[in-house]
Amino acid sequence: MNILLIGSGGREHALALKLHESNNDNNIYCNPGNPGTTQVAKNVDFDIKNKKTLVNFCRDNKINLVVVGPEQPLADGIADILRQNNINCFGPSKYASQLESSKSFAKEFMDEFNIPTAEYKTFEAIDMSDCGRYIDKSDMPIVIKADGLAGGKGVYITDNKEEAKNIVEDFFEGKFGEASKKIVIEQFLDGVEASIFAICDGEDFVLLPASQDYKRAKDGDLGLNTGGMGSFSPTPYVDDNIIKKVITKIVEQVLKGMKSRKNTFVGCLFVGIMIVDDEPLVIEFNVRFGDPETQSVLSLIEGDVANLFYSAARGAIEKNSIKIKRDKFACTVILASEGYPENFNKGFEIKGLQNNSTLKDKFIFHAGTKQENNKIVNNGGRVLGITALASSLKEAKENAYSLAEGIYFENKYYRTDIADSAIK
Ligand code: AMP
Ligand code: GLY
Repeated sequence: MNILLIGSGGREHALALKLHESNNDNNIYCNPGNPGTTQVAKNVDFDIKNKKTLVNFCRDNKINLVVVGPEQPLADGIADILRQNNINCFGPSKYASQLESSKSFAKEFMDEFNIPTAEYKTFEAIDMSDCGRYIDKSDMPIVIKADGLAGGKGVYITDNKEEAKNIVEDFFEGKFGEASKKIVIEQFLDGVEASIFAICDGEDFVLLPASQDYKRAKDGDLGLNTGGMGSFSPTPYVDDNIIKKVITKIVEQVLKGMKSRKNTFVGCLFVGIMIVDDEPLVIEFNVRFGDPETQSVLSLIEGDVANLFYSAARGAIEKNSIKIKRDKFACTVILASEGYPENFNKGFEIKGLQNNSTLKDKFIFHAGTKQENNKIVNNGGRVLGITALASSLKEAKENAYSLAEGIYFENKYYRTDIADSAIK
């Protein structure tokens, strides 16, 4: 199969590896990819926003399947363009992608299809005084969310009403540009978080093992919110009872709802839940794989992932394409640049890297790296994802950290407590 994978992060390196392992004859192109994806794919770099270039690339290279990693191209409608040109795409339409690209769309959708979520109200920039009154009447803490895509940074939680009003003003004044001209104010949910991926063909789906990510920069969930500092899977907090509820109350309702709106959901539905009193409540939907959950979750999957995505993209998912390693646990530690998510220096040489083909049950996934002459240097906040697979979560954690410790670059920084919340 000829596959075009869109994206450049650790998630895409993990996806590229699985698409390659599906069948060594698969020919994978990654746009733009990173130095890690070159181990299993050919990196290409053309403007995916240019419809003609995109379609011509797919035709010229006989692409059988396009897999879209990040949310922005989906929100921009890449899946619609591909489907209009009879090119198979694993990723939802622009309309269905609003589950992620507009929090107010997602909330209204959940209301209509009775999907459990926190109480909320939507406000627009003209509603400042209404919004102030609403905050005055609300119980604290509350959660303030920019409506649009804000790279995971558009959510604030506060227990101070004055601070809440200041945050709202900043949002309305364009802290996140157009994305925060509309906001959702939501009831705070106190519980345990988990991420669950459903691979969907529009009507049917396969659930992958539940995972948890660590969003804060520092140990003990302190510090600023980041794109994710580590993950593990499966999480013991998601038992069969929770899975049953996620299936019937959430995933099946999304698929039914999107079908009734003539926009079947094809792709990876990422259900972000908070478990409160044994009930899963949706805190967010994403319409693609999560990063760094994917690095852990995919390492628990064996079989033909490429065929799973291909069959889903064609509307008839072949669930038996893959098997889940039910007796294994995976842990991923992110090696970041000191200072991330704020200012950090780039260009330091990374030493101790290995090709994944030389490792067993361990993986080094590239994210913010760059090839400079004959060296690999850090080129982003999240530099590498180190994943290990083992028979217990404790062992997976130990193996991931021991591999992480053998990799060196000048401003290397990582959390030391990934997976502890589930080991203790
Ligand atoms: P989101 O981008 O919507 O996932 O929000 C980012 C993070 O904020 C989540 O991972 C949660 O940790 C937290 N969060 C979001 N919504 C809520 C909520 N209603 N109650 C408590 N925490 C929340
Ligand atoms: N790990 C959360 C996300 O990918 O949005």
